Amino acid sequence: MNKKATLQYGDTSYEMPIVEGSYAERGVDIRNLRKDTGLITLDSGFMNTGATKSEITFINGEEGVLMYRGYPIEELAEHSTFLETAYLLIYGDLPTKTELASFANSITYHSMLHEDMRHFFDGYPSLAHPMAILSSMVCSLSAYYPDSLEPDVHNHEHIARLVSKLRTIAAFSFQKKQGRPVAYPRNELNFCANFLHMMFSHPAEPTYEPDPELVRALDVLLILHADHEQNCSTSTVRLVGSSQASLYGAISAGICALWGPLHGGANQAVIGMLGEIQDEGGDCSAFMRQVKDRQRRLMGFGHRVYKDFDPRATILKTHADRLLKYLAIEDPLFDIAQQLEEVALSDPFFIERNLYPNVDFYSGILYRAMGIPTEMFTVMFALGRIPGWIAHWKEMMEDPEVRIGRPRQIYTGATKRNYVPLSDRP
Ligand code: ACO
Repeated sequence: MNKKATLQYGDTSYEMPIVEGSYAERGVDIRNLRKDTGLITLDSGFMNTGATKSEITFINGEEGVLMYRGYPIEELAEHSTFLETAYLLIYGDLPTKTELASFANSITYHSMLHEDMRHFFDGYPSLAHPMAILSSMVCSLSAYYPDSLEPDVHNHEHIARLVSKLRTIAAFSFQKKQGRPVAYPRNELNFCANFLHMMFSHPAEPTYEPDPELVRALDVLLILHADHEQNCSTSTVRLVGSSQASLYGAISAGICALWGPLHGGANQAVIGMLGEIQDEGGDCSAFMRQVKDRQRRLMGFGHRVYKDFDPRATILKTHADRLLKYLAIEDPLFDIAQQLEEVALSDPFFIERNLYPNVDFYSGILYRAMGIPTEMFTVMFALGRIPGWIAHWKEMMEDPEVRIGRPRQIYTGATKRNYVPLSDRP
């Protein structure tokens, strides 16, 4: 096949190289387009624009395929742990026993927050959203580790620190919200068990022993959220990082991007929506009619990339079912969720628009079953996504071709006009 694409513009014919990926997905390389022709491309929402080549995550949205570094998400969810998957994403291969032990040790070693930072939590109002706290606390880490202001991808301490401290910050913000003292990390616990301990330990109760079933469910949730190539928050991390800002600053920006309800905030919005349907009498068909009339949006459905099914949602549905049975919880919101899914999968409106449950549709049910409050759901997403953000930041920083991210625009505002003094304006 011809490895060039031709652009015909007026009398000019311009050839551009085709770039091919591992699965023969193709892109037109337009890097020299403006220099050679004066034209730029306009692609609102980046529906067709590849921002980078990447070796981290492969998605085939048409066939519901998701792989981290070549490993199918289904296999990782079944056999791996979050820390092992984090290592895989950040460093490119599954770790040896020694590598994993050393990675886990460095994460454990960095789990404490500087005591001064612990006092920051006292300054936030009790109604503060935990994502506001998380993003500002992560950015504040750059004040405590000033060498991060000169970003260095070989400084593994910053990487371990981020993964570890993000977990501590998330749990501390929850405990503070409950009006309880924070629970310091326990180094003998594994990553997820330690998080559950920091979240749910109560000073007046016996020592909290994390339930292995909850630990496993959390591991799976975090693995499934660990990366998703060039989504809104990851692109934000890359864009901010491309200015050579500190890693903490870039990740903090990614956390803010994740917060929105059209991205990571959807998991919180799903539970809000299911609760509304329950309060209105549980009539799923009536709700779906309103969605079709565009009065409401079916949160947790639809995806920019997946046009058949989201493989993460399939895995999570099974785990939600299993965990609810294990904990003997009957959650009416889970029943409503299943009914909505049934209606959507048989209704032409949703079929024609390729609207299927996404990862956020069932994650909230699992978090609820684990006792994690709705407001914390997006924080949980951030905790899972941290290795992906770091992996992309590292890949970008190591790419010799990378330049500061700076899109162009087509200006459609007023043409030149002269300044009118205030006294002369009508
Ligand atoms: N409910 C109802 N209709 C929808 C939904 C939805 N959740 N999602 C898309 N549609 C409709 C749109 O109205 C549009 O219909 P039209 O062509 O008749 O105008 C069509 O489907 C295409 O939708 P777009 O908004 O163009 O799709 P886009 O790719 O821009 O948006 C998005 C994707 C933001 C995820 C969207 O599906 C959405 O808002 N979903 C709900 C929020 C959500 O769950 N977000 C989480 C995404 S996963 C993640 O970030 C981890």
